[in-house]
Amino acid sequence: MKSRALIGLLADGRVHSGESLAASLGVSRTAVWKQIKRAADEGFSIETIRGKGYRLVTPVDLLDGNEIVRQLPARLHSTIDLQVHEELDSTNAEVIRQRARQSSGRTMVCLAECQTAGRGRRGRQWQSPRGENLYLSLGLTFRGGFAMLDGLSLVLGLAVAEALEAQGVRDVGLKWPNDIYVGGSKLAGILVELQGELEEGVVQVVAGIGINVHMSAAEGVDQAWTSLARAMPAQQWHRNLIAAGVIASLLDAATEFAKTGFTSFRAPWEARDIFTGRPLTSDSGKLSGTGRGVDEHGNYLMDVNGKLEKVRAGEISLRVQS
Ligand code: BTN
Repeated sequence: MKSRALIGLLADGRVHSGESLAASLGVSRTAVWKQIKRAADEGFSIETIRGKGYRLVTPVDLLDGNEIVRQLPARLHSTIDLQVHEELDSTNAEVIRQRARQSSGRTMVCLAECQTAGRGRRGRQWQSPRGENLYLSLGLTFRGGFAMLDGLSLVLGLAVAEALEAQGVRDVGLKWPNDIYVGGSKLAGILVELQGELEEGVVQVVAGIGINVHMSAAEGVDQAWTSLARAMPAQQWHRNLIAAGVIASLLDAATEFAKTGFTSFRAPWEARDIFTGRPLTSDSGKLSGTGRGVDEHGNYLMDVNGKLEKVRAGEISLRVQS
């Protein structure tokens, strides 16, 4: 987006004179006018008010890396390498590419305004329209081999749920293994990809999180979805603030998980389980029963005729019987 600097100045929705915009951007008033035209060509709706200046008609909520870092607790500043991209195929793919090339020793956090090939779980696409939602990935490293990753994807879902609750989102639920639900519809999803072992026992994981923030329409999505703006329209949502809260919560959860594993996360995860006590059937159709939460490894438990049966993480998803 070529007009990013101009749009950043107009983002508050107020009227800005050509003179003040020219001064802030360090260009002539003619150059401002040209940028206004270019921004209009890029799809922004800008009103020209004669004798006064310019105003953005539809508010925009741009991602700003500096603002995200400012909103993070200071103790995390030196631990991350945060990048904001205008456009990527997929933030997960970008983390994988960059980590294969070099490692700074910091946790890589990668966000994009839009994704052209956003990846969902089970080979699905993830709708990633420009400027509307959050698409972010973290490059995490764990010691102890693949076996210690049991329950990680549930822990990440819980961390996102808690970050959203801290920002006022009500009735957040978790759908095993890690979908985030609000009001019976999916608000956010997580794709965990294993990058492999860096050296014996050191495992690299990419955690990709998509959160619907402002999205009001989505074509071709085959499940009930919502966004923060849809679910709670009275509240103003700021992507930088949400991103900072979610990143901090994920980093803290990953640190705790590396020390203690899934055990301490089990009860808070189950407190948000949308399946518990409900009639379920596994995707393969092999198991039918009632939801009973998760075991110490993060497998889902179903009561099938009085016997607890496990649904293993990553293998099957559950759906409510029709
Ligand atoms: C799901 O299917 O529920 C998981 C969706 C994960 C989407 C996020 S958006 C950021 C990151 N980059 C991707 O390509 N996918 C994940």
